[in-house]
Amino acid sequence: MGCIGAWVVRNLVNGNTPVTVFDLDTNPHRLRLMMSNEALAQVKFVSGDITDYAVLERALRDCGASHIVHLAGLQVPFCRADPALGARVNVVGTVNMFEAAKRAGIKHLSYASSIGVFGFSEEYPSEPIKHEGRPIPHSHYGVYKLANEGTASVYWADEGISSVGLRPYVVYGPGRDQGMTSTPTKAMFAAAAGKPYHISYGGRFHMQHADDTAQAFIRAATVAHKGAPVLNLHGSVVHQREVVAAIEAAVPSAAGTITFDPKPLPLPEEFVDERLAEILGPLPYTPLDQGVAHTIEIFQRAIANDRVDVKRYA
Ligand SMILES: NC(=O)c1ccc[n+]([C@@H]2O[C@H](COP(=O)([O-])OP(=O)(O)OC[C@H]3O[C@@H](n4cnc5c(N)ncnc54)[C@H](O)[C@@H]3O)[C@@H](O)[C@H]2O)c1
Repeated sequence: MGCIGAWVVRNLVNGNTPVTVFDLDTNPHRLRLMMSNEALAQVKFVSGDITDYAVLERALRDCGASHIVHLAGLQVPFCRADPALGARVNVVGTVNMFEAAKRAGIKHLSYASSIGVFGFSEEYPSEPIKHEGRPIPHSHYGVYKLANEGTASVYWADEGISSVGLRPYVVYGPGRDQGMTSTPTKAMFAAAAGKPYHISYGGRFHMQHADDTAQAFIRAATVAHKGAPVLNLHGSVVHQREVVAAIEAAVPSAAGTITFDPKPLPLPEEFVDERLAEILGPLPYTPLDQGVAHTIEIFQRAIANDRVDVKRYA
């Protein structure tokens, strides 16, 4: 039901792969942005809390899944607001998912870690950071994601359950309506709606189109790889001013209405991801200008067809 999850579901349905969604949320508002009612009717929805092991185990057994893409989680602001809940959902929830996979006889899964396991750029004088670079998380969220990487490694060593963890950076696109790094997408929505917007951060970072990210998670769930690697996920390395320029190129009337705070994100600018292609093969890559134009197009269509909850992008 989340942003990346919605794109995973869309890709699977487009490829005629049966899919069951397990999520606490029962509102398919993100899916409605990018899928028709007919396409949505092909998806099975199970409402449940990942922190409740019995419910998760039953859901996994009942749906007869052969593969798992595990994306459920609380993002940075939610973990900051309620660290204990963040730990239950992100850490215990991930342990539950590995345990349920083991008991269901599913030998491999993909799951979301985050570039948030790393520290500030200045803490890596010999950048760029490799997959196995030193984690220095500065948020509860980053600490929990790092714990999940450890959980994955232990499930491989002790139980032979293999996994690929991916570390996205700033994912953008339709459905990215919450989290610390969601404001560039909200600016795209504002431009589509003819409104001004102030993005909450600046600096340089990686922008990853949600569709590309979803396809990487699907590949990571289906690849025949043994072990528990965790891979940095690349995107377009851009400055926030290039994001604004891409929005203005897609909506010329938005020129001068999209601004940003110059303060950069508390995350590294650069990292290396050479093992990604080695393990997952070549992945789709949407250049920033195309991804931004595509996002705005979907938003404009959704606004025109009343398929978007405007408040979520405020
Ligand atoms: N979006 C990004 O830029 C980004 C970057 C790095 C890592 N990630 C990670 O990727 C994953 C997906 O990100 P997203 O942007 O789609 O997030 P999102 O917030 O849009 O979606 C998360 C989903 O998890 C569900 N969830 C929360 N608590 C739950 C619970 N107790 N039981 C079951 N489901 C629950 C939510 O209802 C939501 O649908 C997350 O784990 C996130 O931390 C995202």
